[in-house]
Amino acid sequence: MRRIVSSVAIFLVLASSVAQAATPEDAIKYRKAVMETMAGHMVAITMIFGGRIDAPSHLSGHAEALAAAGTEITHMFPAGSDAGKTDALPLIWQEGARFQEIAETMATATAQLRDAVNADDRAAIGRAIKATGDSCKGCHDRYRQQGAAH
Ligand code: HEC
Repeated sequence: MRRIVSSVAIFLVLASSVAQAATPEDAIKYRKAVMETMAGHMVAITMIFGGRIDAPSHLSGHAEALAAAGTEITHMFPAGSDAGKTDALPLIWQEGARFQEIAETMATATAQLRDAVNADDRAAIGRAIKATGDSCKGCHDRYRQQGAAH
């Protein structure tokens, strides 16, 4: 019983620590990590789709993960995460609505990519890869420091 009580206590401590708002450092670290995973999935999808890697069954896993990350973007730029080791430009927080709109364009493109992969529709997959790539670039061109590493 005591053991159960103490593990519940530990759980509550962990749960309360994750429920707190992230520090700016962690918010920045997190969004960079998610951005990196998206870049990885895009490379993997493009290589499989282009036939350079013979693993068609892996396509849907990459597309699902990319679509999931696409829905996260609007939550990845909390107020206060504009300062520190970041290439995110202040414009993001100055024109929030336009930024959200671009983020949603990407969520739509990645959802279409996932659906096209699940439907095994090559033409639609090709279109959605292009739309997704354009949405990454559209946002980076306006809201990310030029000359950033990627
Ligand atoms: C709505 C805007 C937006 C969209 C859409 C977007 N990004 Fe980003 N991305 C950013 C911003 C802003 C940064 C800079 C983040 C920072 O340094 O805090 C960034 C940074 C990155 C980085 C560098 C991360 C690092 O380690 O510094 C990569 C890689 C990246 N994005 C890939 C992608 C890919 C791939 C897509 C499309 C599938 C994409 N991004 C879509 C805004 C966006």
